[in-house]
Formats: sequence, structure tokens, C-alpha cells
Amino acid sequence: MSPSHRSEGASLDLDRPLAQRLLGVMDRKHHWAYPSLTRPGLSRDALYQHFRHEYEVYVRDFPVLLARALGLCPPLDDVRRALAENIYEEQTGALSKSAPHPELFLVMMAGLGFTRDAFVTAPATLHPAATAYRQFLLDVSARHPWQVAVALLTVWVEGSVNERGELTGTFTRKRGEEAIRTHPMVLHYGCPAESMALVKAHGEIEGSHRHDAWQMVLDHVPDEGPLADEVVTTVERGLQLWLAYRDGVAERMGLQRP
Ligand SMILES: [Fe+2]
Repeated sequence: MSPSHRSEGASLDLDRPLAQRLLGVMDRKHHWAYPSLTRPGLSRDALYQHFRHEYEVYVRDFPVLLARALGLCPPLDDVRRALAENIYEEQTGALSKSAPHPELFLVMMAGLGFTRDAFVTAPATLHPAATAYRQFLLDVSARHPWQVAVALLTVWVEGSVNERGELTGTFTRKRGEEAIRTHPMVLHYGCPAESMALVKAHGEIEGSHRHDAWQMVLDHVPDEGPLADEVVTTVERGLQLWLAYRDGVAERMGLQRP
């Protein structure tokens, strides 16, 4: 049975004002330095700065961030189940028959020639904007209302600039062997395909998790009122802190804004 067996059922009403406001934030989840990560030419240290920050800021602890949000949830079976499934996959990889996603990240790093110690034991000297973004994720994930925590982690952090296209079917994420073969770290930086199980795992489960993320928020936040406003302003704040974080990483990578 495919790991995405479950939640493709109910369709999402993306015409709702709340969906449109959130998609308007996701449409801006792009940073000027991103294209340089899809091309050859980055130094080893620049690559390390990027990945070391990503690991420390949210990759290593993402299952725990989700668990903090689950701990806020009232007895709503749909939400608890979707979060529990997401945590289970992130912390075990069992749904995609792989391994914990933070571990799969380290496997990819090993494929790029970075030692485990460079991530696990070497102290991370984070850019202050990275520390601020990480702290924001920690704070919001453990703070009521639960809808805000869930929206920030599952819609914002797990989502991408392609959210609108993926949900409406105009953009299809590459999956499986194709996603690995065409990945910039394989194409340009010598990462062997067999070290890319993280990309494969994301391709296999992400469709259902993207759907769940939007379903949880849209089912439990009315379009009008203070809750909707808090969800949107928090995700917008996430965008601003993320952009500053990415500026900080670009600075550490020695990249100049074009
Ligand atoms: Fe993941």
C-alpha cells in the first residue's frame, strides 16, 4: 500500500479567503540566493554553511516541533491523526520504508563528503537571523492557539513556493528516480544517487502530507475573525524571519545579491 493511500480523499476549497491569504504568503517563499544552490560553482564551505544551518534550524528537530504542536491539540481525531502520522514518518521513515528524515539528511551529507561529526558534534555557529527564526519556530510550536502552531509547521515550514501549483495540479513535483537523477547535489556536487533517500522519501509521502496540512487548517479555522488573522500574520512573520535567515546564510556562503 502506498504511503499516500489515505488523505487524497476530500478536496480542498482553495477559493476560501483563508486559503487565498495563506497561498499569497507561500507564493513569496523564494529567496534570491536559492538559484545558486541549483547550479555548479559553490565552494565546499558554502555548501556546508547552507546545510549546517538547515540541519540545526529545523531539520534535526522537525519531528519534535510537530510533537510540540500535537501536545496543544484538543481531542480532534482528524488533526491528531494527521500530526501523529507526520511525526511517525519524520522520526522513523516507516511509511516511506526508509529511515528517520534527520538521519536521511546526514546520509545525503555523507554523500557530499561531509562527516557526521561536522553536523552532530561540531558546534553550530549560527547566523543571528538563523537563531531568531529557530527560536520563533520553537515558540510558536508550543503556544496556543494550536491552529497557529499547526499552520506554521505544516503549511509554512513543510510547504514551498510551489504550493499553489501543487495543490491545483499545475505543478508536479519530481518523484523517485527522476527527482534523484536531476537533483543539483547529484548533478553538480557529486552526491551518489544512493545517498539521496531523503528526496525519495519526500517524493513518496509529501503529497498526502501537503493535503493534510491544508485540511487541518481549513477545517478548523473560520475565514473571518481573530483566529484567521493570527494564523495569517504568524505565517507572514515566518516568511519575514525566514527571508532574514536566508539572507544570513547567503552572507555566510559569501553570496552577493544580484
Ligand atoms: Fe521530512
